Amino acid sequence: MTAADSYFVDFRDVWLAYNEELLAKNHFAVEAIDLQIRQGEFIAIVGPSGCGKSTFMKLATGLKMPSMGKILIDSKPVTGPLKISGMAFQAPSLLPWRTTVDNVLLPLEIVEPHRSQFKQKRKEYEARARALLQKVGLGGYEDKFPWQLSGGMQQRASICRALIHEPKMLLLDEPFGALDAFTREELWCILRDLQAEQKFNVILVTHDLRESVFLADTVYVMSKSPGRFVVRRDIELPRPRDLEITYTKEFTDIVHELRGHIGAMRKSGAPIQQ
Ligand SMILES: Nc1ncnc2c1ncn2[C@@H]1O[C@H](COP(=O)(O)OP(=O)(O)OP(=O)(O)O)[C@@H](O)[C@H]1O
Ligand SMILES: [Mg+2]
Repeated sequence: MTAADSYFVDFRDVWLAYNEELLAKNHFAVEAIDLQIRQGEFIAIVGPSGCGKSTFMKLATGLKMPSMGKILIDSKPVTGPLKISGMAFQAPSLLPWRTTVDNVLLPLEIVEPHRSQFKQKRKEYEARARALLQKVGLGGYEDKFPWQLSGGMQQRASICRALIHEPKMLLLDEPFGALDAFTREELWCILRDLQAEQKFNVILVTHDLRESVFLADTVYVMSKSPGRFVVRRDIELPRPRDLEITYTKEFTDIVHELRGHIGAMRKSGAPIQQ
């Protein structure tokens, strides 16, 4: 791929200082980000706490504007918060006074063009929300309240909420961090299947290297101070990937390799490696 406009996400030498004072001191939260994501690509970002992963997410969804450099998404310069993305975070953050299905419907009540059609199309939207909940194994829980669901179930509902408006891009900031290992692996498979079916782009921030290798097409390692992308690793494991793959040597070799990069990076910043 050569033409820049064939990338879905295109960061061109992006730097961000959180305020004028930090900018004057040349104190950047992230710097020199050059990163391109193909249409439908699943990337994962790993790196130490405070290195700038969430900052990158804020840039990718237009919640923050770069101090320097340029960001194109879907071939358009980012000028403000994007409607084409959905987000889910470590804490599920469902509204306790709304049922599961009403939580999932929330973005449709807020984001245009759905917002102005919401009353008219409520039945259709609700059917979509129920179908999605069914798909992630929450059939039968649609009318329960969040506090009646387990942590893993709440996180599934959050993912449905992030996907209900059929975004082109899904941003996940440590969505499975608080879950037990079995539930986490179950959700990996749900995410894998939804993405294979709907082909949205995913940017996943995680501390779990196995998770990044199982799910992503490409894993990026970030360093702290300065917050830069220092390693890019293509994951060429064939798809569809089954959990069994996580026990193979091929898989664990990649996890070890990434672990090595993180260990080395903690001692010194390294140039980007392909
Ligand atoms: N609103 C803010 N104002 C000023 N500095 C900020 C702000 N938000 C984050 N920072 C700083 O930017 C840097 C990157 O923070 P960020 O939240 O992106 O890290 P992270 O990689 O997501 O960390 P974690 O893994 O702990 O979530 C940190 O040094 C942090 O202190
Ligand atoms: Mg963060």
